[in-house]
Amino acid sequence: MVSVANSTDPGRLVLGIESSCDESAAAVVAGGREVLSSVVASQVKDHAPFGGVVPELASRRHLENMAPVVSAALAEAGVTLEEISGVAVTQGPGLIGALLVGLNLAKALAWSRGLPIVGVSHLEGHLAALSLADEPPPHPFLALLVSGGHTSLFLVSGPGEQQELGCTKDDAAGEAFDKVAKLYGLGYPGGVIIDRMAASGDPTVIQLPRPRLHDGTLDFSFSGLKSAVVRFREANQGRDYRIEDLCAGFQEAVVEVLVKKTLAAAAQHGVGHLALAGGVAANQRLRAALAQAANQAGLGVTLPPVELCTDNAAMIAAAGCHHLRAGRRLPLTADAISRLPKGGALPPDA
Ligand code: KG4
Ligand code: ZN
Repeated sequence: MVSVANSTDPGRLVLGIESSCDESAAAVVAGGREVLSSVVASQVKDHAPFGGVVPELASRRHLENMAPVVSAALAEAGVTLEEISGVAVTQGPGLIGALLVGLNLAKALAWSRGLPIVGVSHLEGHLAALSLADEPPPHPFLALLVSGGHTSLFLVSGPGEQQELGCTKDDAAGEAFDKVAKLYGLGYPGGVIIDRMAASGDPTVIQLPRPRLHDGTLDFSFSGLKSAVVRFREANQGRDYRIEDLCAGFQEAVVEVLVKKTLAAAAQHGVGHLALAGGVAANQRLRAALAQAANQAGLGVTLPPVELCTDNAAMIAAAGCHHLRAGRRLPLTADAISRLPKGGALPPDA
């Protein structure tokens, strides 16, 4: 059922559109909280033969998929475009050509219907996904955002109020999973494959470095860990070792750094609740380790369902609802922004 606040509320029924990477997604969210539909057309099969996302191909697939995905999201929600109160679209960061497809479709829809439209930071979207969980984390909370493109710690004090406390200085955690899987020819995307193989491996057999664990900052670095795997592989060519043990050892190194830095951030900022966001939040070992560490430290923890963690448009609609209500608007001349300044928010004049 659609909860109608009042007919002039731009956040009453928001159409969200997301096309920053390799998922064409659209969703309808009522009141920033109730997901009426969330449709995701994944391009994983298109990019798999190349072992990674091919930007040009992603844009072309979005061109084919985006309009039908929006129609499907409206149909699934049982609403027409006439009933939509506002449009929220990912403006950045992401692949520029991919972003432009969603941005232009959103602009065209809003313009043709005279609807308010707002641009949303993809990172803020991942954080807003937490507000769609059955039990959203209480503010303030400490969010570990781990995806294929980002690894950041955010102090979230309220809807749309987040401060980035630390981030990766090179590769993102998901990127490291994908690169290690590619190195061993395990398949694409690598995160879920390593997660599965690691489950039958022993993480103590192959010891790998824990980058920046004791550097006293809340920043991360994963490219050195990937290089350590490259060196391990070269040094052990022809020797007998189990790939499952390598996967478990690598995963343990990533997870230990992520969990310890998250706990350190919570302690430094006196925050009593942790939350996990982004595609890597699907990782079983990360979920278990964070839950255990939070428990031991007497902290609360929110581990949202995987479909809220991976790229989707419901999270963009949820974040956009807040900004639409606050009166922010996207000029029809606005451009897509492939890289955001430090902090993960869109510039105020974007
Ligand atoms: O959030 P997402 O869907 O897209 C980005 O915004 O990047 O995250 C995708 C990333 C990929 O790097 C993928 O390998 C990783 O999340 N991933 C995982 C798992 N499932 C997805 N990494 C580790 N373990 C998993 N189970
Ligand atoms: Zn994402």
